[in-house]
Amino acid sequence: MDRYRGFEVNLVCGAGGAEIGGIDASRPLAPEVVAELRRALAEHCVIFLRDQVLTPEQQKAFARHFGPLARTPFIKPLDGHPEMMRIVREPQEAKKLNFGGRWHTDMTFSPEPVLGTCLYARESPAVGGDTIWTNQMLAFEALSPAMQRMLEKLTVMHSAKRSYGPQGTYADDDLKSMRIQASDAALKEQPHPCIRTHPETGRSILYVNWVYAIRFQDMTEAESAPLLDFLNRHSQRPEFQIRFRWRQGSLALWDNRSTQHIAVNDYPGYRRVMDRVTISGDKPYLKETP
Ligand code: SIN
Repeated sequence: MDRYRGFEVNLVCGAGGAEIGGIDASRPLAPEVVAELRRALAEHCVIFLRDQVLTPEQQKAFARHFGPLARTPFIKPLDGHPEMMRIVREPQEAKKLNFGGRWHTDMTFSPEPVLGTCLYARESPAVGGDTIWTNQMLAFEALSPAMQRMLEKLTVMHSAKRSYGPQGTYADDDLKSMRIQASDAALKEQPHPCIRTHPETGRSILYVNWVYAIRFQDMTEAESAPLLDFLNRHSQRPEFQIRFRWRQGSLALWDNRSTQHIAVNDYPGYRRVMDRVTISGDKPYLKETP
């Protein structure tokens, strides 16, 4: 049990993940409770609430406690809820690529990537369908000082072209029930520091991910690949991972500034339905050390 005012917290893994008891996410939260939830999120990367009964409006209201909602540019939203998408995986889609099924950090192709993502399980498989996050603060801290200093000087270019571009992973519209519509909106390259500072804790974060971090600035993709591959493989070491087993009514809110994540594709024959909203973020920066 960790110490927070207003609710109970149990950590789910050594790397983080805070399961929180005693909060009903369908109701407005007091500012001091929100401040403590924000602290738990920044410290432990993901917060989880079990057994919630939420309408889309209530989920959006919960997420808005942490900031204005952002829209995902290339995915058709849930009817009547422009800021929400419904991730549906049908039993017969078993062999196909699942949404979120590659290690990534949400929307790092944006100039101001989202602060967080709030995901709610409406239907979850009897077995499988977990989500796994990496703690990119731990991943940074485990690198050698010389590597840390070198990476602090580098900028990484991010783009959605490998996933949602004309030849991208999702170009064949494998995920018909998701109604993904590739567009030009997210295909430009955006520079972000390779190491960013967490604005709330001041900790350093290794800010790369498999899907959107495509090369180092002023280098080709081929030149960048060996080091980016190393950094991504390093990030996925088991001791940096947080794994969550969903049940119907589970709610997760994760910190996109300090994590990568993947939706595990291991539940053939089962339906999985998740409602997802994202919270606006700001421009990543690296704080100069004196
Ligand atoms: C996502 O990558 O946003 C979705 C993760 C999941 O469905 O578990």
